[in-house]
Amino acid sequence: MSPVRAKRASRHSARAKPTKKSSFSSVHFHSDRQDWSTPQELFDRLNDEFDLIWDVCATTQNAKLPLYWTPEIDGLSADWRGKQVFCNPPYSQTAQWVEKCATSGAEVCVLLIPARTDTTYFHQHIYNNPRAEIRFIKGCLKFGDAQNSAPFPSMLVIFRNEQS
Ligand SMILES: C[S@@+](CC[C@H](N)C(=O)[O-])C[C@H]1O[C@@H](n2cnc3c(N)ncnc32)[C@H](O)[C@@H]1O
Repeated sequence: MSPVRAKRASRHSARAKPTKKSSFSSVHFHSDRQDWSTPQELFDRLNDEFDLIWDVCATTQNAKLPLYWTPEIDGLSADWRGKQVFCNPPYSQTAQWVEKCATSGAEVCVLLIPARTDTTYFHQHIYNNPRAEIRFIKGCLKFGDAQNSAPFPSMLVIFRNEQS
C-alpha cells in the first residue's frame, strides 16, 4: 500500500483552540480523542538521533514527517520492513500497534506510548524483548494542544533490526 507523500510535513501540527473540556486529563478518561500530538521538542530530539523517515500513525494535519500513513491507507497493515519509523499510536489500539512495532522488521522503530507496565503487551513485546530498548520519560508529557500535562507517565521504546 502506498504511503501519502507530502511536499513537506509541517513541524507543527494544526492546533485547535483549547477549551476547558479538551484538557488532556478530562479527554483522556472521558473521550475517544485519538490524535494527541507528540511534543515537537521531543520529536525533534528523536529525529536528530534516529533520522526518522516515516510517521506510521498520522493524518495530513498532524504528520511529523514528510512520509506518513493515515487511517485511510492504514499504517497498521503497511510494510515497514527496512524503514525508520516513528509511532505515536491511537490510545484505543495501543496493543495492536505495539505488536506491529515489535514484529514489523523496521530497521528502527521509535514508539511513544503511556508507560503501562502492567499490560500483557508490555511484558510480551517490550519487557521480554531483547531488541527493545526502554526509555522511561521523567515527568509527564504535555501533548499537542492540551492545556495540562498528561495524567500518566510515558515511555519510549526503540526496536532495532539494524543490519550488521
Ligand atoms: C496520537 S496521534 C499521533 C499524531 C502524530 N503522528 C504525532 O505523533 O504527533 C495518532 C494518529 O494515528 C492516526 N491513525 C489511527 N489509525 C491509523 C491507522 N490505521 N493508520 C495510520 N494512522 C492511524 C490517527 O488519526 C491519529 O492522527
